[in-house]
Amino acid sequence: MERVIPTKIVIASGYKEMSSLAASFVAGLVQEKPDLVMAIPSGRTPVGMYRQLGGMYRKGGLDLSRATFFLLDEYHGLGPRDKGSFYHFIRQNFMRLVNVPAVHVPDSRFPDAVEAGRRYEEEIASAGGLDLAVLGIGVNGHIGFNEPGRPFDSRTGPVNLTPETISANARYFKTPAQVPREAISMGLATIRQARSVLLLASGAPKAEAVAAALAGPVTTTVPASTLQRHPAFTAIVDSGAASLLSGFPQKG
Ligand code: F6R
Repeated sequence: MERVIPTKIVIASGYKEMSSLAASFVAGLVQEKPDLVMAIPSGRTPVGMYRQLGGMYRKGGLDLSRATFFLLDEYHGLGPRDKGSFYHFIRQNFMRLVNVPAVHVPDSRFPDAVEAGRRYEEEIASAGGLDLAVLGIGVNGHIGFNEPGRPFDSRTGPVNLTPETISANARYFKTPAQVPREAISMGLATIRQARSVLLLASGAPKAEAVAAALAGPVTTTVPASTLQRHPAFTAIVDSGAASLLSGFPQKG
């Protein structure tokens, strides 16, 4: 059996503190290595961290101009100009706030999604591989768009979204029917290959997924549980998301 490595878990009082701890974590790594290569998520969870990074940049305390960014995932068929695309999201919520010239995104309009995934892997490899993957977590334990059941050795490629994920993401679209059913996501092996991984979670609705991911068995039913095997894995979760974890120290 593979060794399960103890995870560093930091429990923040709330969303704001989670966000500033996450921003400091990222800024610290960028200070050590200005040309850091990062995978970054879309969604509600990282918005506060992106704002904090924007604040650091405005105050002259952060320079991201030499770092490289890869979006974790993108909806199949949606391009950068589509309002529902993750690229649009990241432009509005991150790129606008900092000095990041470009963010890589899977070519989700390329007709062959398997090939688009393979090319994305090549882009990551030619950037030198991921130094850091920042992740949110779905209520079903997904990371990126790796839904329950996705193999731990999966690489970037097409994925089908579960009804749960589709309805969670409906808020970014005018009607539920507009939410894409497919995406291109970095695979679980791709994420695990990052030299360091930071998982963020906020709020009681994430508590079950967080407990299963961090303290449950390592199983493909809970994709995030694969991170327990990562040698440099940190989770920063707020008290709501941590409410079903027991025996972990408060903020370290
Ligand atoms: C988004 C992504 C997803 C989200 C997760 C949580 O790029 O990869 O795994 O991180 O669905 O979403 P929020 O933060 O909206 O709760």
